[in-house]
Amino acid sequence: MKNLNGKKILLIICGGIAAYKSLEIIRLLKKNGSVVKTILTKNAKNFVTPLSVASLSQEKVYTDLFNSDSEAEMDHISLSRWADLILVAPATANTISKISYGLSDDLASTVIFASDKKVFIAPAMNVRMWEHQLNKNNLKKLYETDYEIIGPDSGEMACGEYGMGKMSEPNTIIDYLNNYFKKLESNNQLKALVTAGPTHENIDAVRFITNKSSGKQGYEIARSLKDNGFNTTLISGPTNLESIKGVNIIRVKSADEMLEATLNNLPADVAVFSAAVADFKVKNIKKEKIKKNKISELYLEKNTDILKHISNHNSLRPKLVIGFAAETSCLKNNSKKKLSEKNCDWIIGNDISQKDIGFNSDYNKVSIFYKNNFEEEIPKMKKSKLANEIVNRIVSRLN
Ligand code: CTP
Repeated sequence: MKNLNGKKILLIICGGIAAYKSLEIIRLLKKNGSVVKTILTKNAKNFVTPLSVASLSQEKVYTDLFNSDSEAEMDHISLSRWADLILVAPATANTISKISYGLSDDLASTVIFASDKKVFIAPAMNVRMWEHQLNKNNLKKLYETDYEIIGPDSGEMACGEYGMGKMSEPNTIIDYLNNYFKKLESNNQLKALVTAGPTHENIDAVRFITNKSSGKQGYEIARSLKDNGFNTTLISGPTNLESIKGVNIIRVKSADEMLEATLNNLPADVAVFSAAVADFKVKNIKKEKIKKNKISELYLEKNTDILKHISNHNSLRPKLVIGFAAETSCLKNNSKKKLSEKNCDWIIGNDISQKDIGFNSDYNKVSIFYKNNFEEEIPKMKKSKLANEIVNRIVSRLN
C-alpha cells in the first residue's frame, strides 16, 4: 500500500469497544510508512490507554481541548492543518451526532469542525442505535456535508446482539485510505476546466441580457474535481458564490470573455461546460442609458457556442468534453440532439421544469447521455453529491 507512505494521518478514537481495533489501525498505518497523531476522547480512555497509543504511534497523544502545554505546542487548529486526512475510528453514535450538529465541546469535535481536510468516519455501535432514525438522520447530514463514511459491517457484536454496526476491519479501513491517496495521486497530473454561472451581455449603461443560473452545480463540480486531485480552473460568469480554495477561478462577465478565458486555459484533460451562456449579445451596445421609446434600436447577434467551438477545435479539444442541456421538455431528444450537434462526449440533461431542483436549489436530478448511446438517470440528490457522482465517472473514464 505504497500510497500511505509519508502521509500524515490524524486518528480520532472515540469511546466504544471497537477502540481496541484502532490500535491495529495505527500499527498498519505505521507499517505502511504513515505518520500517525492521535486524539483520544474522554470515553476512549476507558477502552485504550494513551500510553499504548503513544507507544504504537511513537507520537504524542492528544486528549484535552485546553491544555497549556499542548496548546502552545500544537493547538486544535494547527493539528487539523497538519493532517493530510482525519480518520474517526471508531466513530460512536454520540460523536456522529455531535459532528452532525456542529458541536465542538472537546478536542476531537473541535478539530473535526475546524478541519479543512477530508474526514473519514468509521461508525461502530449497537445494531439498534445504528438503525435508529435519529442516527440515520445524523449520518445523512454527514454524508451530504461530504464526510466519507466507511462501513460499518454486519456481524456479532460485543454486546451479544447481531446486525449492522460493527466497525469495518482495520485492513478494510487502511485499503480505503490508500485508495483515496492513490486516486489523488493519479489525478494530480490531470487538468480540468469548468465553466459555470450565467453571462451578462450589456445592452447599455444599466441593462443587460442574462440567463437564470446560480452557478452552484458548476462550482460543486469544480470543487469535486479539485478534491479528487485535478488541477482545476473554474471560469465563472457573475454569481454570488465564493471562490473555492485550491481552484483557480477566473471571473468573467460576457460570453466573449468566457470564450477567451476558456481558450487561454486550454489544453485540459477534461472540460465541463455547465455555464448558462446567453445565446445572444447586443451588436450596438450603448454607453449611455437607452430611453425606452428608443428600444427598437436594439440589434442582436449570436454568441459563439463555446462548447461547440472547443469540441470541434483541432488542437485544443480536451480528451473528455462534457456539456449540459437545460430543458423544459423532451429532455432525452433535446439532450441527444445537443450531444451530436455539439460533438461532445457526454451531455448532462437537466429537466428544469421540475420544482425543487435545478435553478437556485441545492438539489438536482439529471440524466447522462453518452456518445456510445448509453444513458443513465441519476436520482435527485444534493448538487454537491451529484458533482461527486459526475466526477467519479470522469475519473473512471480518464483512468
Ligand atoms: N453553451 C456554450 N456556449 C453557448 C451556449 C451554450 O458553451 N453560447 C453550452 C452550455 O454551457 C451547455 C450547452 O452548451 O453545456 C447547452 O446549453 P443550452 O443553453 O442548454 O443549449 P443551447 O445551445 O443554448 O440551445 P437552446 O437554448 O436552443 O436549448
